[in-house]
Formats: sequence, structure tokens, C-alpha cells
Amino acid sequence: MEQARIFRFLGPDYPWRDRLLILDQVDSTNDRLKELARQGAPEGTAMIAERQTDGRGRRGRGFSSPGGTGVYLSILLRPDCAPGDLMHLTCATGCAMCDAVEKAAHFRPGIKWTNDLVWGTKKLGGILTELGLTPQGGLDYAVVGIGINCCQAVEDFPPELRDMAASLAMAAGGPIDRDRVAAAMLESLFKMRQTLLCEKDALWERYRRDCVTLGKDVALIRGDEVRHGLALDVDEEGALIVRFPDGHIEAVNSGEVSVRGMYHYV
Ligand code: BTN
Repeated sequence: MEQARIFRFLGPDYPWRDRLLILDQVDSTNDRLKELARQGAPEGTAMIAERQTDGRGRRGRGFSSPGGTGVYLSILLRPDCAPGDLMHLTCATGCAMCDAVEKAAHFRPGIKWTNDLVWGTKKLGGILTELGLTPQGGLDYAVVGIGINCCQAVEDFPPELRDMAASLAMAAGGPIDRDRVAAAMLESLFKMRQTLLCEKDALWERYRRDCVTLGKDVALIRGDEVRHGLALDVDEEGALIVRFPDGHIEAVNSGEVSVRGMYHYV
């Protein structure tokens, strides 16, 4: 990726040009940015890496981050609020990333609750949000990391991932300019930050539109236990509202959720 091109694609209103770090290789942009956050880096500091040697996903998983194929980006936010006021941050980022992809690749992905960007039944990318707290339990910082597969062809994914993973190039049916994607992501993140604490209702409306999980049969996996239900909605804390066959309704927050028809769940 090329710093000068990313700068060229960034609109004149993007205010955080002076704090954009573009590196060739890091272990994880989230980990490096959290380090900078602890040293006092300002809001809007962002890090983009050509490749990550230890890219991290949610639930302790890795996020494959080879060079030349994806955008791996983390941004530091310091909203003036309590940690509990950021329950919607990952969902807000999901919608912002749908906007960015639509701008740069001319199609709108969906969101598989909570944090996967998808094209049809396949994963395009994911979001990893991490909060840092003050010794008193207040919010010190939020680091939001996003990885998006951009340029891969089907055969570039390992065989075991081919029916689960996709890239923007596969979805758009043509080449993808990663510098353009990165610039669109940064601009969307800035826009998202501007309304983060004041337009929550509008955000949930947008999230409901982008979230492909709603209205689908889901399998809820917690340890050895698997329960099936119908995903009805998301609540104001981002929990998935699920109706079970016996008619009772629950807000589900943790554990793994498989959506029928997506990835390996049929
Ligand atoms: C997931 O799919 O569970 C989330 C994946 C998040 C990957 C991004 S890539 C940039 C940032 N750095 C990381 O180590 N992870 C996030």
C-alpha cells in the first residue's frame, strides 16, 4: 500500500492526516495501537499494515493477514463517555465499513451479527474492538481494528476456507484498489465518530438494515450446548433477540452464533 495514494484518496475534510501510520509489517495493528494509546496518542491515530504476522480476531482466533491482499487497519478513539456507553461501537463500525466498501468497491456488503462483513454467505472481513480502562474503571481508549479481504481470488484462500471466505474483488467482479478502500474506511470511521454518542437510534436502524442475521434461523453454540432459534432483532446493547421453538424470547450476548446457510452451517 502506498501512503501518498491513500492521502490522495482522502477527502479534504479528513482531519486526522497528521496521525496516520502506514507500516510494512507488524504483529497486530490493534496491539501496536493499544501500546501507542497507553503512551498518550491522540484520538484519530490510525495504523495500517501491509501484512500482520499475528493478526487477531474475536474469541482468541487469528486473522490471516498476508501481504498484497487485504487492508488491516486500526484506529484509536477517545470518546468522552463510560465504557458501558460504547456497546454499539462494533455495530456502528460495521455500518461504517459497509459505507466504505460501497464507496470504494460499488457494492454493499451485509453484516453477520455482530462483527463479520459478508458477501452472500461468505466472510469478507471482521472487526475487533478493544477498550482500555483507567484504574478507576472509566474509559481510557477504544481501539477498533478492521480487516477486509480485498484482492484474493478463490484459489488464494486455503482449501478449508474456500467455501467460507471471499474478497471484495470476488464480489465486485474486478480489481480492487486497496489504497482507495483504506481511504474510504478512514473517512467512514471519522464520520461514524462524529455521531457515535448522539445518534444511537439512527445507528440501530441502519444496523438492522445491514444485518443479514435478522429473520434467519440461528444455532447458538455455548461450550457443548447447541440451541436453535429464530433471530428477530438486535436490542439497544447490540444483543441478538432470539425466539426459541417453545416460544420464549431471549437476548443473546455471548457465545458463537451460526446462521443457517452461511459458512459451514446448513
Ligand atoms: C474477526 O474476524 O473476528 C475480527 C478480525 C479483525 C482483524 C483486524 S485486522 C486489523 C486489526 N488487527 C488485528 O490484529 N485484528 C484487527
